[in-house]
Amino acid sequence: MKDWISRLFIDRSDLFLKLLNPRWVGTEGLVAGMIKLLESYGMSSGTLLDLCCGNGRISVLMAKRGFKAVGVDISEAFLKDGRRKAREHGVSDRVTFLKGDVRKLEQIVRRNRPFDVVTSGWTSIGYYSPDDDLNVFRQARHLSRDGAVLLITETMHTEYLSIKFAPTSYSEIDDLVMLEDRQYDPISASAKTCWTFYAKDGKNMKFIDRVDFENHIYSASELSSLLQKAGWQTTALYGSIETMQPMSPLTSMNMVARAV
Ligand SMILES: C[S@@+](CC[C@H](N)C(=O)[O-])C[C@H]1O[C@@H](n2cnc3c(N)ncnc32)[C@H](O)[C@@H]1O
Repeated sequence: MKDWISRLFIDRSDLFLKLLNPRWVGTEGLVAGMIKLLESYGMSSGTLLDLCCGNGRISVLMAKRGFKAVGVDISEAFLKDGRRKAREHGVSDRVTFLKGDVRKLEQIVRRNRPFDVVTSGWTSIGYYSPDDDLNVFRQARHLSRDGAVLLITETMHTEYLSIKFAPTSYSEIDDLVMLEDRQYDPISASAKTCWTFYAKDGKNMKFIDRVDFENHIYSASELSSLLQKAGWQTTALYGSIETMQPMSPLTSMNMVARAV
């Protein structure tokens, strides 16, 4: 059986793109918050490394705000769409998209180093083992200058699942219907999810595909310890980078750390 990463992000990139695109709308606010936060660290421009960048919403919108961005993703389809969006936003010369596995980050990213900012958005961690994540953040540290800022944004966390866990949910995105079935094991902090996609067909729904995946969910303290081992010191934790409200069990996790 193929691993879920290839199934969801490569084989069914057409379906996942439909989930990535609506997130561009809220990204203006996220990026405005990121800019404000970076300014508070004395940074108004520089180089940015976007880990697991998808179709580039953070890279492209940060490039529009003066940063030179490098986005890395395993899915060529997302990067192709990201390159098109960079052209539409007039920032092709400020964004580079590189295809590859972030577990081999230092082999993929050869230019624009050392980076001033590293980002990882929308729960793009916990896909492999915590040791793999440690290895990715260690490599990101090697590619960054001392004092660089790491922003892990809009990420699922164990505190949220302990209160808000929902075993099922339903969503519609244009003509796509998505059913989610979830299981969460608090002992291993592992979340198993099944996404079933249907196309709306009049009053009926036509089955398209089903993708099962499993990922590790971090608590703020576990993630912060992992980052510490990788050479990043956590400096702040927010529920939203846009509003700077503190993180709570009801918000997403947004962790800020600096390269030490
Ligand atoms: C939930 S999406 C987040 C996309 C983007 N960060 C955003 O906020 O819109 C996760 C992304 O991780 C990418 N990905 C998964 N495993 C990867 C790997 N080993 N190396 C690089 N990218 C990976 C997927 O292709 C997908 O684009």
